[in-house]
Amino acid sequence: MTGEERQLLDRAGEARALAYAPYSGVRVGCALRAEDGRVFAAGNVENAAYPATMCAERNAVGQALAAGARRFVAVAVVGDGERATAPCGTCRQVLFEFAPDMVVLAGAAGGATVRYHLARDLLPEAFGPHDLGG
Ligand code: THU
Repeated sequence: MTGEERQLLDRAGEARALAYAPYSGVRVGCALRAEDGRVFAAGNVENAAYPATMCAERNAVGQALAAGARRFVAVAVVGDGERATAPCGTCRQVLFEFAPDMVVLAGAAGGATVRYHLARDLLPEAFGPHDLGG
């Protein structure tokens, strides 16, 4: 693992500590590295109306886009437990929109890490912008 990857996982871990997850008790942190080097991090935010819950990854994407970042090289996700947490299906789709070739680092609070390529490993044959229009 490179130093930059370690740093991104650390940022995801910090964001995880700030997650708001009183209902599931599952805290997830995400850190997204933009092509220009900026890092955007967020935790999951749950709601008493359960479906209003937002994943850590999409909170980080929202922050990044609000700051003008549109292209990303890597994302780190850190969840609870021993097994590495990879992004859910909806978050894979949202990440694919902006960076199909990004590196996805799936981490665990316990320390395990797995490295994926988003399009190849986590969302093969994805529906994307290329599928719209003529
Ligand atoms: N969660 C995330 O933040 N990211 C994922 O990719 C999967 C799930 C959150 C949503 C919810 O607050 C909790 O984990 C349990 O599903």
